[in-house]
Amino acid sequence: MRKPVIVIAGALALLIACASPFVRAVDDNHSAAQLRNLVRQDCGSCHGLTLQGGLGPSLRPQPMQALGVDAIRLIIADGKPDTAMPPWRDLLTEQDIRQIAQGLLSGAYISDNHSTQESP
Ligand code: HEC
Repeated sequence: MRKPVIVIAGALALLIACASPFVRAVDDNHSAAQLRNLVRQDCGSCHGLTLQGGLGPSLRPQPMQALGVDAIRLIIADGKPDTAMPPWRDLLTEQDIRQIAQGLLSGAYISDNHSTQESP
């Protein structure tokens, strides 16, 4: 027969297991290939498959260069309040966001011919 303390420990473990996906999502950087898929599919669902603009504006290098890397990073992390642009802070690490911003600036996500470069 199991003791109540085991049940409580089990309940605690379950609680921690439920909370941890958030923690893990923010702690682990994604690979360049994962980020490429995310940008093309998730961002692309609003910004257009080739990022030329759709519901959201174009994310091609020219408008991105006008924004600058820091503004792009802030927008990705926090989203834009009162618009459809959602915050990605809970899903992506700082490094993920930096890499996406650099990929948008360089146009790395647009071309099918070359793979995403790891930016320095
Ligand atoms: C649910 C739709 C949606 C998704 C998904 C989405 N965006 Fe947006 N995004 C928008 C909208 C709408 C705007 C324009 C907000 C405004 O009116 O200023 C925007 C604006 C932006 C801007 C500012 C563009 C500019 O010229 O001011 C950037 C950068 C951006 N999004 C990047 C991303 C990235 C990177 C992703 C994926 C990680 C993403 N967005 C996912 C809807 C979306």
